[in-house]
Amino acid sequence: MSSKIKVVICSGTACFVMGASDILLLEESLSSELSKNVEIEGATCLGLCKTGERNNAPYVTINGEVMAQATLPKVIARIQELNDA
Ligand code: FES
Repeated sequence: MSSKIKVVICSGTACFVMGASDILLLEESLSSELSKNVEIEGATCLGLCKTGERNNAPYVTINGEVMAQATLPKVIARIQELNDA
């Protein structure tokens, strides 16, 4: 895969209290093989908590694709999938 997988982790208030703080450990949680293919960014509120259900926070986007109720294992699994594609 030539371009990096871009992960944006929302760390706005709604997402943060719903568990985004765990997802911010992503960088340390990736294998070295995956981590060189991934670009991780934090973001202030992506606006999704206001349009979607607040209960669906935390939100992460992976290559622009929105993941609701994101968890660290779900994010890693999706990155792995995209990396293997
Ligand atoms: S705080 Fe994450 S989308 Fe609003």
